[in-house]
Amino acid sequence: MKLLIDDADIAAIEEIYGTYPIEGVTTNPSILKKSGRPPFEVLRDIRSLIGPAAQLHVQAVASTAEGILEEAHRITQELGPATFVKVPAVPQGFKAMKRLRQEGIAVTATAVYTPMQAYLAGQCGAAYCAPYVNRIDNMGYDGVQVAKDIHDIFTKNNMACQVLAASFKNSQQVLELCRYGVGAATVSPDVIRGFVQNPAIDAAVAAFAADFETLTAPGATMAQY
Ligand code: G3P
Repeated sequence: MKLLIDDADIAAIEEIYGTYPIEGVTTNPSILKKSGRPPFEVLRDIRSLIGPAAQLHVQAVASTAEGILEEAHRITQELGPATFVKVPAVPQGFKAMKRLRQEGIAVTATAVYTPMQAYLAGQCGAAYCAPYVNRIDNMGYDGVQVAKDIHDIFTKNNMACQVLAASFKNSQQVLELCRYGVGAATVSPDVIRGFVQNPAIDAAVAAFAADFETLTAPGATMAQY
């Protein structure tokens, strides 16, 4: 399972990207709104931070297929070929996905709440499909199970589309999809930081450092021996 950052905060992306095994960054209009900056300004900053080959996912907002195509051309022209255009899995979005497949522009189907949306998006040529795990949970359904069902639909139908699960509120949701082997998960910096927040881990590391100091000298490391 690939891991991506779901955020547009440059400082947070720099910190997380430099620390964890991250394949790219996903954004949506609500995430861009939080930055308070012109959209392409912040997106160009993200692109230059992660480099030309890393995945950057950017959402189209037009309500017609023609409008989505126009946005897709602008997005990929501005941000390069490793940019995935996020297209909502709705009728006009499916129409746009079929055209984008012909043009060789990579698509991530988004705003996915049901397996049927995912099936249709995959058949229309989407490379990724993004079920909103926590939002589905909040509706009273099982978001992790929906993501697993979508993964199974892609596998059993020999579809190239992969799950890019989104909308996580805790590390357990992410881990369960990692265990299942879905293609990717995009996760906010706060939830990623929580992956290894555990007093037992910190205590073990501190005890090893203290024992080494007792054996050698305060502040000493293996580099000095
Ligand atoms: O792009 C979809 C994903 O970012 C939604 O996350 O936290 O707004 O439910 P959230």
